[in-house]
Amino acid sequence: MARKNLDLLLTVEWKDDAVVMVDQTKLPNRLAYVKCTDYLQVADAIKKLVVRGAPAIGVTAALGLALAAQASKAKDVDELRADLDAAFQVLRATRPTAVNLFWALERVMGKAKRARTVEDVKKTVLGEATKMWQQDIEANRQMGSNGAQLFKDGDVVLTHCNAGSLATVAYGTALGVIRAARESGKRLSVIATETRPVMQGARLTAFELQHDGVDVSLIPDTAVGHMMARGAIKRVIVGADRVLRTGHVFNKIGTYQVAILAKRHNIPFYVAAPLSTFDLKSGPEDVVIEERSIDEVVKVGKKRVAPKGVRIFNPAFDMTPPELVSGIITEKGVLKPPFEKGLKKLLA
Ligand code: MRU
Repeated sequence: MARKNLDLLLTVEWKDDAVVMVDQTKLPNRLAYVKCTDYLQVADAIKKLVVRGAPAIGVTAALGLALAAQASKAKDVDELRADLDAAFQVLRATRPTAVNLFWALERVMGKAKRARTVEDVKKTVLGEATKMWQQDIEANRQMGSNGAQLFKDGDVVLTHCNAGSLATVAYGTALGVIRAARESGKRLSVIATETRPVMQGARLTAFELQHDGVDVSLIPDTAVGHMMARGAIKRVIVGADRVLRTGHVFNKIGTYQVAILAKRHNIPFYVAAPLSTFDLKSGPEDVVIEERSIDEVVKVGKKRVAPKGVRIFNPAFDMTPPELVSGIITEKGVLKPPFEKGLKKLLA
């Protein structure tokens, strides 16, 4: 695989016929790596949030298909396609909300369909997956340069969850824009929310920005309104798991309330998302919001903090309507409302 951007922390990569990824469940205490040698291990890693974040999930699943293709003992193309289809079904069932997962798997399967021999299918699947790996970094860099102009020298920027290197192959979407603005000479500092209940903000965003020397402060999710009311936040930028044609944004639970608070305080609310995160077919009611284990809510660390028997809801994502979104930064340019019209032009 071409290894450009060696200076960046790589979340996932194809190495020695395996998929190697940062184990995000161990961060920030340990920067450890997991090596997956079959697609079932990849599926398990996605389910358990060893790898997470929409673009990273997509590329990892595509590399999972490459593992399935390499491991197949099929003697002819039909048998190999059946093996690939079995892996496709398992990988697509890992998480329901981030559309990048389905986009990536379908793109690789589509390419594989056109190959004619066993060797050709195997080569095509790995080739397409590694191409997506490289394109992810390039799209993030491009989004960064498109979005950087929206930020001013001295801005304090709030972000929710982790839409950084760790949510992509490298560089990040929302944090990529912050990186690009800083690379252009602007002094930006970041306020990260903890992002209960899985703590992606505390564990991952704070770790990643500290690792890269970016000024970062951490706040409880519940402090967002207070900080905004005090004028301590100039802009908000988040990533997305799915953006609809209409500009509805699905992202980590809590994003919606951050967007409402931003509107209340006249603070621009930006979303950074590559085109692989756009779902042009679904309406808001079609999107499945992942419900995760109640253990994430009843426990803090290993300690139970809620009484036994209490009813728990644990939705992992929410939907922010377009009227709360000031702009959507993509690798092809920045969309401003009305998004549907702008998107048509952007994709034309
Ligand atoms: O449950 P997670 O950690 O996979 O959720 C991740 C998010 O919600 C991110 O904000 C989103 O995927 C954008 S990542 C560039």
